[in-house]
Order: sequence, then C-alpha cells, then structure tokens
Amino acid sequence: MRPYTLRQLDTFLAVAEAMSVSRAAERLHVTQPAVSMQLRQLEQTLGSPLLEPSGRGIALTDAGAELREYARRVVFQLTELDNVMAERRGAYRGRIELAVVTTAKYFVPMLLVRFRKKFPKIEIGLRVHNREAILQLLAKNEVDLIVMGRVPDELECVAAPFATNPLGIVCAPDHPLSRRRNINLRTLKDQDFVVRETGSGTRLAMERLFAKHRIKPRIVMEIPSNETIKQAVMAGMGLSFLSLRTARQEIAAGHLALLDVQGLPLVRHWYITRLKIKRLSPAASEFERFLLEEGGPLVDTWS
Ligand code: PGA
Repeated sequence: MRPYTLRQLDTFLAVAEAMSVSRAAERLHVTQPAVSMQLRQLEQTLGSPLLEPSGRGIALTDAGAELREYARRVVFQLTELDNVMAERRGAYRGRIELAVVTTAKYFVPMLLVRFRKKFPKIEIGLRVHNREAILQLLAKNEVDLIVMGRVPDELECVAAPFATNPLGIVCAPDHPLSRRRNINLRTLKDQDFVVRETGSGTRLAMERLFAKHRIKPRIVMEIPSNETIKQAVMAGMGLSFLSLRTARQEIAAGHLALLDVQGLPLVRHWYITRLKIKRLSPAASEFERFLLEEGGPLVDTWS
C-alpha cells in the first residue's frame, strides 16, 4: 500500500494550483491547519520538501513541481473515472420520452416490460401516433427516441433496425381468395380494400407497393386504426394491407386469413430513431442498446 493518500495529493494539488494555503483551504472547505497538516505528512512520506517560502508567498520546490505534474494526471484520470461511474449510475435512473407509431403498439409494451425488469428505476413516457404525427414530434425535438417503420428522408436522423416488419394482405377466412395460392398482385385491382389513413406508414408502404405494380386499389373505406380495420375485414368489408405484427393472433386463431400473394409478405424493418443533434441521456442510450441487442428475438416470439 502506498504510504500517502489521495486526500493528501488532492490537498497538495489545490495548494500548488492556488499557490496559497489559505485559498486552497477555502476551496477544499477545510481549515488552514488541516491543509498544512496534510502537506507536512506528504512531505514526510515522500522525504522531500514540496513548498518553500518565496517573498511574501510560497513556491514549489523541484520535487513539488514534479509532484504537481503527476498529481494533475492522477486527479484528471480519477475525475474521468468519477464521471464514467456517475454516468453508469445515471443509466439506471431518469426518464425517457419515447414515441412509437400506432402499429408498433403491438409489441412495444412488451419490450418496455422487459426493459423495466432490468432497469426498474427508469421511467418511460410513451406516446402513440401515426407516422405523420410522430415526425412532427421528432422535428420539434420533443422526444428522445422513436420506433417507426421507415426512416424519414426529410429530417437528419440516426436510425438502426432492430426487428423485422412483415407486411401482407389479409381477408376474412370465408373470402374466396383465401383458398387461392400464389396470387398475382395485379389480380387484386378489382378487390375492395380497407386502408389506413393518409399519413400512416402502413398506408405509405401499401401505396408504394401498388404504384410499383401500377395498381390503383379500390378503396372502400379509410380507417385510422389497425384494430377497427381488422374488425372490418373479419366482417367482410374487403381486404387490407397490414403489418402482420398487428394480426398474428387473429391469423393464428383463424379469424383472419393471410393471402398467398406473390412477393408478399414484404419484409421491412422497425427502426429505433432519433434526431442526429439529439444528445441521449444515459437512460435513453441504455434503451437504445437494449432494443438493438434484444429487441429482434423478443418481437419475433411476441407478435
Ligand atoms: P403507422 O406506421 O402505424 O403510421 O402505419 C407504421 C410504419 O411506420 O411503418
């Protein structure tokens, strides 16, 4: 064990920086005799005088000047260590403002439960909106992180995919197309479609797909809710293009049928996204890391 202490080094450095015992005592919130005692003990242990009188003040001896260089480096490193540790502690507390697109609500609550099991002291504020509304929140820098299906081109963002987002066409189980195999998308142009509202990411993905195949779907109703769309499809209103993450249970239970269309399901991704200028808190970074490391398999087993 070293015969001198960190406290003695701190005290010496405070004196060597201030070139005054009284100012160092003030800065350290201790008495002047306490500072003098620490200095005396350090000099005794190191076997050299560190300070000498100079005019009306004090000066460093050669040994003192050398010690000051080392003490600076030691204290700098220790300060860095304090910061890193504080940041780690911080990661286990704090609040994250999270916003997710409506379609992500089918798996995000489960991810939050898993995350909070690991970090119970982190609070999460959750907002759920369609893509358009989420982009407005992002533009105003009102949220830390966003879960969405397609990274916006119009904002400078950092985005990383963490899970897949298969999109397909569903119908009622008694719909004649439900038994057809290998359907060509173009043959669906005369079918009735129930669609998400303009501004939804699902709607955007559908429009891009249909435009690529030069199809104009016949829209019988626009509904701003995946839940209501599923009910409408089950009741026989028509077909719908949806993220299959929203319909796994209904498909498994036979309440909805997934059409066997060539090239579908379209496999896209869920992204954890933030503004490039956003400085994430340790808690938000921890959530981002959690999604990237564990999100994919958790979402696959859930929805
Ligand atoms: P939506 O978003 O819920 O607005 O349709 C889905 C997506 O971003 O892909």
